[in-house]
Amino acid sequence: MSELPVRRLAIDLSRGFARHWNGGDAFRTAFCNALSMSFPVGEQFFIDAVREGAKQLDNRPEHQALRETVRGFIGQEATHRHLHGLYNAHLHKQGLINHWGPRAARRLETGRRRMFSTSDKGYLHELAITAAYEHFTAIFGDLTLESADQPGDWFAQADEPLQTLWRWHAAEESEHKSVAFDLYVALGGNHAWRMRWFNYVLLQFTLDTLRQTLNNLWHDRTLYKPSTWLSGMRFLFGRHGLVRRAAAPLRAYRRPDFHPAQVGDPALAANWLRQNAERWTLVGAAAS
Ligand SMILES: [Fe+2]
Ligand SMILES: [Fe+2]
Repeated sequence: MSELPVRRLAIDLSRGFARHWNGGDAFRTAFCNALSMSFPVGEQFFIDAVREGAKQLDNRPEHQALRETVRGFIGQEATHRHLHGLYNAHLHKQGLINHWGPRAARRLETGRRRMFSTSDKGYLHELAITAAYEHFTAIFGDLTLESADQPGDWFAQADEPLQTLWRWHAAEESEHKSVAFDLYVALGGNHAWRMRWFNYVLLQFTLDTLRQTLNNLWHDRTLYKPSTWLSGMRFLFGRHGLVRRAAAPLRAYRRPDFHPAQVGDPALAANWLRQNAERWTLVGAAAS
């Protein structure tokens, strides 16, 4: 993989956005807001895991190439973290409460104290967790871009600047989806632990997403509206819904010979970035 570019997104989040910014749809808005709430803690964890893993690389040419992509990965995730932090500050002003971020931080603290920092090669556990989350974000990213302006486009009527923010984030998640996985494999990570952490993360991520989405709807006073539940069922279980479309790429991760490049289409991210080139500028790869 060539060096990953780091971009600055030309959006202005200073003026905030509407309460139901995602096409006036309470459920889709609450769901996306929940994901955003997890990003600052989650993406910092990915950065730390990948940075720690990169320290274990040696001077082999393939390891050197990986070290280059790590620099870009860190730069991209740091930019996402920053923008979602600004986004989340507006959610706070709208009266939503981020329970997910602090809970994830506490869980991580416990994990580091009991396992990651005490076991031999603890960095491999953190990389396996990161690779699993990166698979989810890449799936969400690929599906977001695949359906752009098609039936099932989750952001079709989303207000700016959030439509651009989500699609740009989707493109970069798709672009850097192999980095944590490649590091894990290059450093000797095995399939059994990759699957253990994948199963754990799948369960945890699903529960965390649902809990925070329901909490957001509660504070939004839309939790008990039939239209919210109708939209939620359609978004999750409908013909173009998340569960149906994510099932095959999720299953693919279980194959022993799986690699992230086997799912999704890299042209989707490249096309979006090219067609929206006026919305971002290149800032180079951030120093790791
Ligand atoms: Fe990200
Ligand atoms: Fe990522």
